[in-house]
Amino acid sequence: MFQNIFSSLIDGILLVSRDLTIQKSNPAVEEMFRRSKDFFEGHHISELFPVQPDIQNKIERVLDTGISYRDIECEGFQISTATPFPVSLTLSPFLGQDGQIQGVVLLVKEMTLLKELQEFSRTRDNLSNIESLALGMAHEIRNPLGGIRASAQLLRQELENPEQQEYLDVVISEVDRINRLIERMMNFTRPRELNLKETNIHKVLKDITLLEQEAVAQKHIRLEQVYDPSLPHIQADEDQLKQVFFNLIRNAIEASSDKGKIQLVTRVSTGYSIKTSHTANPGQSIVVEIIDSGMGISESDMKNLFTPLFTTKSKGSGLGLPISLKIVENHGGIIKITSEEGLGTTVQVFLPVHQR
Ligand SMILES: Nc1ncnc2c1ncn2[C@@H]1O[C@H](COP(=O)(O)OP(=O)(O)OP(=O)(O)O)[C@@H](O)[C@H]1O
Ligand SMILES: [Mg+2]
Repeated sequence: MFQNIFSSLIDGILLVSRDLTIQKSNPAVEEMFRRSKDFFEGHHISELFPVQPDIQNKIERVLDTGISYRDIECEGFQISTATPFPVSLTLSPFLGQDGQIQGVVLLVKEMTLLKELQEFSRTRDNLSNIESLALGMAHEIRNPLGGIRASAQLLRQELENPEQQEYLDVVISEVDRINRLIERMMNFTRPRELNLKETNIHKVLKDITLLEQEAVAQKHIRLEQVYDPSLPHIQADEDQLKQVFFNLIRNAIEASSDKGKIQLVTRVSTGYSIKTSHTANPGQSIVVEIIDSGMGISESDMKNLFTPLFTTKSKGSGLGLPISLKIVENHGGIIKITSEEGLGTTVQVFLPVHQR
């Protein structure tokens, strides 16, 4: 039974002997460090935490004094991919039958998801302040705009000179543009109820790609669709999800150069803490990926993507991403964006299959 508990834990366990070599590891640790069982046993602990000499000191202190350390934040190291990842360590002395300290037990918790969620809630805090400001401003701007448009129209009727009429056409069409922007902003701030039903995400994507067909053809973009046919339907508000994928695919098209490539991929998410099991998993989610090979996003812009009104486009309103985030978040999902400048951008939309 202890063996089973050891193997079933989603947190990693390492047993380290007095000479600081690893004696035992459980499958969670193997998964975290992307190494097979053989790798761990007999290797020195510093290979897993190469940039943290402090950990070694702490282990030695546990061996010497028998004290424990709880929740030490540090970085583990995936040797094969050479990537560090955040972990939290708890160190306890391992006592033998005779009560002597024979080694140290390390409890290793993977913190990647937690860190991401912290990051994520920071962007959310950003929203609420600006939301109330935006709603107030939207109302204030709307009224005088109505007056400007009506006057421009009247004046246009009075004028005979077609050149002068054209100036007023510009005024009217720009006023209309501001009006549309404000409408989107107000829609964004007003909380919308979810109208949930069984939704086939492939149908949503099909509708949007049809809508974008012309823009795609105009730029000679190669649109590849890699869909998992066994993808489950999800409980969602279809119209609102259409808005999300419209915004995201639009962004991908706008970022692409002529003859660029955009990939749409769907699959079931193998989430961080979801254990393989034969029963239906209530926490199951799907992922839709929109991968473009466009201009990419600079590191400094990366921080602002979800801030309302942030845009790098001359005609952009900077509302596509914040609106999309809000909708996905209302569904209990998240949006993750990774990008490499000059190479392209990957947007991942995680959506739960069931709403709780
Ligand atoms: N796929 C992408 N590739 C490169 N940059 C992107 C991509 N998606 C978003 N961005 C960047 O994020 C910014 C914000 O995007 P967002 O969709 O919120 O607003 P927008 O596209 O500028 O305007 P709109 O309100 O019309 O969508 C963009 O201006 C752009 O700089
Ligand atoms: Mg956009």
